[in-house]
Amino acid sequence: MTYYVTTPIFYVNGSPHIGHAYTAIAADVIARFKRLDGEDVRFLSGTDEHGQKVEKAARDAGLDPQAFTDRVSAEFRTMLTTLNISNDDFIRTTEPRHKAGATALWEKLFAAGDIYLGHYEGFYAVRDEDFYGEDDLTTLPDGTRIAPTGAPVEWVREPNYLFRLSAYQDRLLAHYEANPDFVGPAGKRNEMLAFIRGGLNDLSVSRSSFRWGIPVPNDPDHVMYVWLDALANYITALGYPAEDTALWRFWPANLHLVGKDIQRFHAIYWPAFLMAAGLPVPRRIFAHGWWTIDGAKMSKSVGNVVDPHDLVAKYGLDAVRFFLLREVPFGNDGDFSHRALVSRFTTELANDLGNLAQRFLSLIAKNCGGLLPEAGPRTEADSELLAAAEALPASLREKIDRQALGEAIEDVWRVIRAGNAYIDHQAPWALRRTDPPRMAHVLRVLADVQRIIATVLLPFMPASMDRMLDQLGVPADQRSFAALSVPLADATKLPPPQGIFPKMVEDTDAKS
Ligand code: MSP
Repeated sequence: MTYYVTTPIFYVNGSPHIGHAYTAIAADVIARFKRLDGEDVRFLSGTDEHGQKVEKAARDAGLDPQAFTDRVSAEFRTMLTTLNISNDDFIRTTEPRHKAGATALWEKLFAAGDIYLGHYEGFYAVRDEDFYGEDDLTTLPDGTRIAPTGAPVEWVREPNYLFRLSAYQDRLLAHYEANPDFVGPAGKRNEMLAFIRGGLNDLSVSRSSFRWGIPVPNDPDHVMYVWLDALANYITALGYPAEDTALWRFWPANLHLVGKDIQRFHAIYWPAFLMAAGLPVPRRIFAHGWWTIDGAKMSKSVGNVVDPHDLVAKYGLDAVRFFLLREVPFGNDGDFSHRALVSRFTTELANDLGNLAQRFLSLIAKNCGGLLPEAGPRTEADSELLAAAEALPASLREKIDRQALGEAIEDVWRVIRAGNAYIDHQAPWALRRTDPPRMAHVLRVLADVQRIIATVLLPFMPASMDRMLDQLGVPADQRSFAALSVPLADATKLPPPQGIFPKMVEDTDAKS
């Protein structure tokens, strides 16, 4: 089966920060999970380079917009590399393939009679690239009017093309009703439904007061509204308007992963555009929450913006990937602090996971000549632990399909904790003298359990779990869920044990 997952395309008005890293890492975990599960996966990311906000950022930097976006788009690509993101494609909205596809989409909507020339008069927030009604706004003591997002608004009065969004209200509602999983989490779905039920106004889809955008076909005074341009990336990257390409098999997308701030664009405007173009709508749109930093909103002026490169340099990539998905339930807001990251690392990666591996691997090295022991007759305790581990791929699949990434991690940790309790109870270091065959068997059970744990954690911490599978002697081409049904060969020579997460080495020495 095909599985198409996307990140939002990043605005290039500023450098990447932890919020961008979060969206990308979550999508990467899902893409990697689906690949391990044998699906035909397409994973897209990219940069959103047009619009007033980017034009202004370029001006402030004293650069021509194309030169500016080239520079910042490259920073996002570098971020994806640093984070070990496995995207198959990276689309930039300034690329010819995107401009051609977005133009074709416009023409389709125009030909369908869903775009017409009108007039927009109202408030606009450049920071959000969004329109607001008078009722949405708050006036600050200094007279500035701000949107609910905190972004200052300006009054805009210009001829605009409008998209007949109002005509799609009923179809959208019917789609939501027929597809209860269309939008997640559930609270967001209700928010979207309330918004649609509140009545949809036609949406301004062009701007004529600046130039940095895709020209509206046959009307060079206008550029396309940046959100219509940007949303189209999900299909232009598959070759739209051509629908007979090999890549088109991935449409409709299985999942658009987005932050909660941009849910409405994806869950209301985008499906309406697609319906107007006669195209199927995505299967699911899931919104994650936002990170604050030590309790405060991240902002350049406060100077608390967390750079993902600094974090990775300080703690190692997989600790960062793990922390972001482990610390808060996916879908909720979270607060980042270095203290919380270090504490998760120590208790869960070093003590729970790292320690479990190190404890039995060092015993295999010392007592079994470094050869993977053979399995013997099973006790109830053995069967119970093995069954808990064997259940992981299916239980994780169910959670990944709900984007419950934190719950998926918790499932694995239950088994890791059970593994540590098992080794405490079985005390293989004592069996060495009393019952060597039983010791060998206990170590084998632990190796089999650890193999499953490391395999299901590969999507979360690819490099460290690959190292852990190296330690267990699992061949590189046998790291998938399907391969788990093939037992490891008895007497496989294991490499000398090496700590995966630095602290576990100390712990192991203390205990064994
Ligand atoms: N360009 C639009 C998306 C267009 S998709 C067709 C955009 N870009 S963005 O760069 O501003 O945001 C990209 C993603 O980063 C969004 O999903 C957004 O929610 C996420 N985050 C930005 N700041 C964030 C936090 N502080 N915390 C978590 N995620 C945040 O929106």
